[in-house]
Amino acid sequence: MTPLPGTITLDAVSAIVRDAGAIALRFRNSGTLEIRDKGVQDRVTEADTTVESYLRRHLSALCPDVGFLGEEGGLSEADGDWLWVVDPIDGTDNFVRGIDHWSVSVGLVHQGQPVMGVISLPWQETQFTAVAGQGAFRNGTPLRVSGVTDPQRAAIAIGISRRICFQTGYLDVLKALYDQGIEHRRFGSAAYSLCQVAEGIVEGYVELHLNPWDAAAGVLIAAEAGAHVHPITLSDPAGGPVFVVTPGLRHCLSIPSHSLPVAQSAPMRP
Ligand code: IPD
Ligand code: CA
Ligand code: CA
Ligand code: CA
Repeated sequence: MTPLPGTITLDAVSAIVRDAGAIALRFRNSGTLEIRDKGVQDRVTEADTTVESYLRRHLSALCPDVGFLGEEGGLSEADGDWLWVVDPIDGTDNFVRGIDHWSVSVGLVHQGQPVMGVISLPWQETQFTAVAGQGAFRNGTPLRVSGVTDPQRAAIAIGISRRICFQTGYLDVLKALYDQGIEHRRFGSAAYSLCQVAEGIVEGYVELHLNPWDAAAGVLIAAEAGAHVHPITLSDPAGGPVFVVTPGLRHCLSIPSHSLPVAQSAPMRP
């Protein structure tokens, strides 16, 4: 792997993401939270913006040459090929409702490819980590995806947003799963769902459009645990479809290409 720039290490990033999660948790437990609508079924809270500012400040201090792309503050590019891709709270809707299953997600991307991913679940003091080529871990314990091969014992997590393709694309996905006897789950946080794939709790994750900050850390963690990941360019703020599936269920997950809103289906990468 290309050497990491500046003073970036997995330990340093993990500590920053853990502290950011603690800030989010304090907001959630405070009982008062400023909430604003960004769009249909899309809200932002003062916790999202505060946590993102914290991450921007502390991650950038590890190496000023690395750019930063965050959901709430957008893109500030530095020179070069390196980019932090950050979702301060993934699953804001769960966070607002007091439902656990939200996460703080930080990916480090080099030339569009994820090289490090850290996802904290502050509500259960859990952290998922991965470095490209070095495996995926939950609180330091190595992870491996589910070995299920029978579709009738499988469950695929899905994510749905109102950004695009709300109608037919998702009905096609659900029909394809249903026809094969595959169960589905909807956790409400793409990052958390991808960790569930890495941990072997579900056999895949499908969302027809994700932003890079939803996916950057999670796709690496799932891939490092053995999942197949449909390619997505994580430095492109436009985002794209995300299909992640375990090897045993790979043959079941061929989403009709007309369902794809922003890109045609391409072969999955081992
Ligand atoms: C959303 C969540 C949701 C997914 C959406 C995302 P946010 O992120 O991950 O599960 O279906 O596509 O935008 O807005 O809670 O950070
Ligand atoms: Ca959001
Ligand atoms: Ca998100
Ligand atoms: Ca978010």
